[in-house]
Amino acid sequence: MHGAVEALLDEVGAETEPRTLFDAANLRGQIAIVTGGSSGIGRAVALELAECGVHVAFCFLDTGAQARLDAQAVARELREMEVRTYFRACDVRDSADVKSFVGEVQEELGGVHILVNNAGVGRDGALWRMGDHEWEAVVRTNLDGAFFFIRSVAPFMRAQEYGKIVNVASVHGIRAEFGIANYASSKAGLIGLTQSAAVELGPRNVNVNAVAPGFIRTTRLTESVPSEILDRARESAPLGRLGDPQDVAGVVLFLCSESARHITGVVIPVDGGYLL
Ligand code: NAI
Repeated sequence: MHGAVEALLDEVGAETEPRTLFDAANLRGQIAIVTGGSSGIGRAVALELAECGVHVAFCFLDTGAQARLDAQAVARELREMEVRTYFRACDVRDSADVKSFVGEVQEELGGVHILVNNAGVGRDGALWRMGDHEWEAVVRTNLDGAFFFIRSVAPFMRAQEYGKIVNVASVHGIRAEFGIANYASSKAGLIGLTQSAAVELGPRNVNVNAVAPGFIRTTRLTESVPSEILDRARESAPLGRLGDPQDVAGVVLFLCSESARHITGVVIPVDGGYLL
């Protein structure tokens, strides 16, 4: 009887123990893959994870000397934060190369606990004028690429009964806009993939979620989107501003943390209220 009361008190004590809302320390020593980590949101996610002591591997698309310099610069920033890193050009559209990349990360860094599918592109245009290439380039990067990475890490995450996967979708996977049929379809598909993967991997303690950024100030955005559209986006969001890459990285980090351990299959808009 005495033992039973003590056990009950222990349980109650454990339940009422205050837990910090966000404990960055619980990620220290983990290993993450961030696709498209050489710029914009991917770079911010990589640095945010490294800030918490996570070793970060990332890939990027080799479009020329500048892309390689960008990637080297991010790798340097990561090393300065005293985490280990592994990076190389790997086209997420190439399923065999994705598989090799994931294998190399495991060999070089010793495992994989976190996957952030961030690599993404847009090729805008009215759908009746959209060529096969514009459709395929976007859907294959934004959707096929995420599938290839999830498929490659799933066996390891299932075996270790632990994993966090975050897919970078978009508000445009939820709300249509003119001229982005390819992009919107790829991001809506990515949300479907997030939910399917959450259902299939949840039983092995792998959380799969998505973030849906609104307009985020990255070079890609400011270079490719006309300023009138950015002004309209700023005005139509209740918070009245564009987001920064760090705004997205903070939410990705939360979803990778144990504070979010009971969240799976959701899409969190990071959009200043744009979707309201
Ligand atoms: P960015 O152009 O600055 O970075 C894209 C990254 O993806 C680069 O590292 C690039 O090398 C990589 N990448 C592109 N194609 C690739 C491929 N085939 N294989 C491997 N890597 C590839 O773009 P940004 O703005 O940082 O976007 C990142 C993600 O966030 C994308 O998925 C994008 O759709 C999404 N997003 C961005 C928003 C924005 O306003 N910037 C809004 C909503 C979503």
